[in-house]
Amino acid sequence: MIVTEKIAEVKENVRTWKKEGKTIGLVPTMGYLHEGHGSLIKKAREENDIVIVSDFVNPIQFGPKEDLATYPRDFDADCKLCESLGADLIFHPEPAEMYADTFCSYVGVNTLSENLCGKSRPIHFNGVCTVVTKLFMISEADRAYFGQKDAQQLAIVRRMVRALNYNIEIIGCPIIREEDGLAKSSRNTYLNKEERQAALILHKALTKGEELVRDGEKDASKVKAEITSIIESEPLAKIDYVEIVDWNQLQPIETIDQDIVCAIAVYIGKVRLIDNFIVES
Ligand code: PAJ
Repeated sequence: MIVTEKIAEVKENVRTWKKEGKTIGLVPTMGYLHEGHGSLIKKAREENDIVIVSDFVNPIQFGPKEDLATYPRDFDADCKLCESLGADLIFHPEPAEMYADTFCSYVGVNTLSENLCGKSRPIHFNGVCTVVTKLFMISEADRAYFGQKDAQQLAIVRRMVRALNYNIEIIGCPIIREEDGLAKSSRNTYLNKEERQAALILHKALTKGEELVRDGEKDASKVKAEITSIIESEPLAKIDYVEIVDWNQLQPIETIDQDIVCAIAVYIGKVRLIDNFIVES
């Protein structure tokens, strides 16, 4: 497995692989890899000749009061996991390598970025779209893999690719959970023992909400109320949002009569966790 911090080195390898007619799958990550990331790498391995994993804590997607400085990092462990899953290249740039002269050029998606996480994280999705665009350009990937765990991110990247005619296929992958149902996340490491237990309330509430929708409940406000009341029963939990939006435009809906995503963000103590379920009509 090639390990590099340099854009030029990635491009050199990509040129060779492209000449040989090989297909390239890209898995963008911020490192501290877990089985959720692993599932994306495995799928990329199955579907492409070459797998590139990027491992970069992208500063421009963090707000000034967010956890950029403390975001967990363990590059040696990341390399081991990528190697064991058969990745061909891991790209681990320094911020200066990625943002030498591009601070004046951003990519963004309006509308879809305004709700849900966009409300409390106003610059976040422009930062994501910008870094993802750069990674697509550097890797010249045929396919890129994203988790449904970050449903809004997945919808926004898909929209960006369609709207701006990027020559890449976006593959969405299911949420990988701990045995007790908590969605795997690099940020779960911030939870102490008591908070880790309290965090189960997200999955518990969403399971109930999904059951209601699958049993035919059409009134979005009733489903949201049920989810809200379950989360509020947990003293350590504080809701950021509970929303039901259409899976295409990410706009709030009143009646559940189309493909929907029910997305939540909840503080457990100081740790902000997200989770969701999607029901296709
Ligand atoms: P990161 O949080 O490291 O996640 C990288 C990818 O792994 C994302 O597509 C995310 O949805 C997916 N993922 C995380 N947890 C998952 C889980 N439990 N099950 C399935 N997939 C999961 O998302 C980012 O990084 C960044 O915003 C990035 C796209 C790399 C841009 O900087």
